[in-house]
Amino acid sequence: MTVWAALAEGSSALEGSGSGSPFLDAALLLGHTLGVGRDRVLASMPDELGASALEAYQAFVARRSSGEPIAYIVGYKEFYGRRYTVDPRVLVPRPDTELLVEVALSLLPPVSRTRGGSARVRCHDAFTGSGCIGVTLAAERPDVEVSLSDASPAALEVARANARELLGRELDARLGDVLSAAVGPFDLIVANPPYVTTDLTDCLLASGDGEPRMALDGGELGLDIYPALAAQAYALLADGGSLAVEIGEEQGRAVGAILEAAGFGEVRVHVDLAGSDRVVSGGRHAVR
Ligand SMILES: C[S@@+](CC[C@H](N)C(=O)[O-])C[C@H]1O[C@@H](n2cnc3c(N)ncnc32)[C@H](O)[C@@H]1O
Repeated sequence: MTVWAALAEGSSALEGSGSGSPFLDAALLLGHTLGVGRDRVLASMPDELGASALEAYQAFVARRSSGEPIAYIVGYKEFYGRRYTVDPRVLVPRPDTELLVEVALSLLPPVSRTRGGSARVRCHDAFTGSGCIGVTLAAERPDVEVSLSDASPAALEVARANARELLGRELDARLGDVLSAAVGPFDLIVANPPYVTTDLTDCLLASGDGEPRMALDGGELGLDIYPALAAQAYALLADGGSLAVEIGEEQGRAVGAILEAAGFGEVRVHVDLAGSDRVVSGGRHAVR
């Protein structure tokens, strides 16, 4: 079978399976099979595919057809220009979460202005999963001391490995519920907690998504974790420090109110490229 025929076959198998881009997915899976980029695949349409490559490719297509995220099949996901290793122990990093990184970078103070100008800026990434947020911040701001935490030991293994791979060093990564393992004071706390409603989580998992329930399920309204997160973050932040959290698109008002109830000022809802509410931030005794 030629590359072209394999792509056509894979693409039609993926149609109707929930993949929004069957042809591109097929090209990515074929590239993964052959160990080349998608562009090389598209450039070699007339070539013949060997029997073992075809068999491996068809197995990947079958996994994708049953709902498995493409990132688990190929073993990585690009996030903020870097390649994160992912597997079913962690949520696949979403492009939407890059807005949380942007907001975090805008809230991080310059080193010299922190706590009298001598101490290092400190930032904590709670609910770290693959580590994509904290590792990105550490890479973008090497002067900042970044720590990570998660309640899943398996997720922490992935985050630690991504830190080693992408930063060439370890990050302080601790196991604990919400922020219980974090040692303040921090200048910034970032968090992408589970905020999907339980009903939607059930649907996603039933469709073969395969991501960890604890990475998705935020309870009946998706808001279960925010009150504890806001209260614990407030206690761990230095004066003038900030909290930035990711939210579902209908949660801006509710999460804003939760931050205000915990004592935060200057609470803002940030909108993503699609125009949806995506991040809420607030300051502890924000400096005016
Ligand atoms: C939505 S995922 C976010 C992963 C990653 N930060 C990202 O943006 O892709 C939420 C993460 O929170 C962790 N988690 C769930 N409940 C938790 C809790 N009560 N305390 C700490 N971590 C929790 C899960 O293991 C999962 O890794």
